[in-house]
Amino acid sequence: MIELCRTTDLPEGSSKSFSLPSGNIFLVKKQQQIYAYRNSCPHLGIPLEWVTNKFLDEDGELIQCATHGALFTIEDGMCVYGPCVNQSLTRVSVQEIQGSIYFISP
Ligand code: FES
Repeated sequence: MIELCRTTDLPEGSSKSFSLPSGNIFLVKKQQQIYAYRNSCPHLGIPLEWVTNKFLDEDGELIQCATHGALFTIEDGMCVYGPCVNQSLTRVSVQEIQGSIYFISP
């Protein structure tokens, strides 16, 4: 288990990236739920963001790939618009324990 950050470092409606030995991931908090995915767009396998920690669209409702504008649902990472429709981001496991968020996946 790797500690990523304190829960308070990920406010509601925000996203945050992390570089781990096993690759880059990002977190999104929506309606008090934490979602975690590999930072790799299924279209070209490149990172999604151009601006550090900015993974959401203007409304904060969808995850957006900055390169070609693909949009993904926050809840399951499914692409709903763009060149990789019906492909999805790769989910990773994280867990919140005593005020910190931990990466669980190997
Ligand atoms: S690389 Fe993400 S939409 Fe093309």
